[in-house]
Amino acid sequence: MTRTVTLALHPAFRVAPVRPRTFGAFVEHLGRCVYGGIFEPGHPAADEAGFRTDVLELTRELGVTSVRYPGGNFVSGYRWEDGVGPVEERPARHDLAWHSTEPNTVGLDEFMAWAERAGVEPMYAVNLGTRGVSEALDVLQYANAPQGIALSDERAANGHPEPYGIRMWCLGNEMDGPWQTGHKTAEEYARTAAETARAMRQEDPGLELVVCGSSSSQMPTFGTWEATVLAETYDLVDMVSAHAYYAEKDGDQASFLASADDMDHFIDSVVATADHVRAELKAEKRIMVSFDEWNVWYQHRAESRPPEGDDWPVAPVLLEDTYNAMDAVVVGSLLISLLRHSDRVASASLAQLVNVIAPIMTAPGGEAWRQTTFHPFALTARHAAGEVLDVRIDAPTFANERFGTSSAADAVATWDETAGDLTLFVVNRDPERELDLAVDLADFGGVSLVEALTLHHEDPYAANTQDAPDTVTPQANDSIRVEDGRLSGALPAISWSLVRLHRG
Ligand code: AHR
Repeated sequence: MTRTVTLALHPAFRVAPVRPRTFGAFVEHLGRCVYGGIFEPGHPAADEAGFRTDVLELTRELGVTSVRYPGGNFVSGYRWEDGVGPVEERPARHDLAWHSTEPNTVGLDEFMAWAERAGVEPMYAVNLGTRGVSEALDVLQYANAPQGIALSDERAANGHPEPYGIRMWCLGNEMDGPWQTGHKTAEEYARTAAETARAMRQEDPGLELVVCGSSSSQMPTFGTWEATVLAETYDLVDMVSAHAYYAEKDGDQASFLASADDMDHFIDSVVATADHVRAELKAEKRIMVSFDEWNVWYQHRAESRPPEGDDWPVAPVLLEDTYNAMDAVVVGSLLISLLRHSDRVASASLAQLVNVIAPIMTAPGGEAWRQTTFHPFALTARHAAGEVLDVRIDAPTFANERFGTSSAADAVATWDETAGDLTLFVVNRDPERELDLAVDLADFGGVSLVEALTLHHEDPYAANTQDAPDTVTPQANDSIRVEDGRLSGALPAISWSLVRLHRG
């Protein structure tokens, strides 16, 4: 039996313009993300400030547009002022979230210098776990106020006279999670977030504020948390956050491959909840989603457990997942979901950037390399342009334990009408069977094929390692062709593909 997936594409199926902020990432003071990741003084590739230039180059190649900082769970116990001023005077502190010692060698000023070199927009999270309105205002004034008040003068004295002008601010992190230092009920958090947002807006009305939503769609408070928090903060914030991590569990490939079904449901539910609050409040504006943590993460593995006991190491090896070909296909399909929701997902952050559940890995004193997941992210960030187009999909299904049945194929397209570039992102999520792709391109006025790349490996568990960094890379898919305005080709089981077309 031929298994054909037919995609219906039309330039009028517009969702929204491609948003650069969809391609954000995350740098947390966690494990070797900062120390030994972006920052390693003494490394042969380190610049005068101690930043690894090989990591900077890979960050740019990845196409990352914004970076969330400094956490994550870390931020809920963080004192931002420990990380500014003369480095030799900065205190070391215990980081409760990851049972580590934070030396504070890198702080806000160093991160901003790194962000500038990387060419990324910063997204800064304030501590609403152990702290509140006052400290949020302090760090905002330190970062953004023009010289002439105590904290902005302190910034200037530290070598940065000009305000940083950070626009995106997260009001805490995962405050719905009992693991969070200073965890709150929805009512408690809503109050704190509203007071903090109001004060931050008084200081700087142009900020874009992200209030904490749920840390997963499986949280018992999912839905009611968003409704409670938004009812209190609706006029004061711009986005509500969503976090989701996926993993293959107990060898259940099929459910893992269908992970984007959860992401679709998650986004749709948060949007519905936000719009319900909008209706109740008779509000004009719409709240957008900031999907500011998403990835594949094997949380049950030993390296995801923080150290225990009396040892409080600096930058321990933590959450250093090695990604395989199947993980990369899932990352590609999660990006399809995020792009498809560009009308309401205004920002997103792959968690994280370096070493910690990351697309970029480094060896201490040694090389940096690309994990499998680097490739779908980099190609999507580079080639998604113009308008996001919804794609109507007629595909066979595959059975899986978590969702029942899921579509074997998922896809989204972007159309840059001015440049004449049509780009298709398509995934075959069926664990076993190849699909024949059929797309009628007649409505795009005579497009021809530029390039078709497929990420697939006959062993879905094949990975990129320091010794073999190119085991899994996208390859030209020669079966994909365009004839008489029709695109056809083969999509292997467990594969992610990029098809680039050009008008004329
Ligand atoms: O990204 C790793 C951790 O996952 C973050 O610190 C936290 O916000 C989430 O639970």
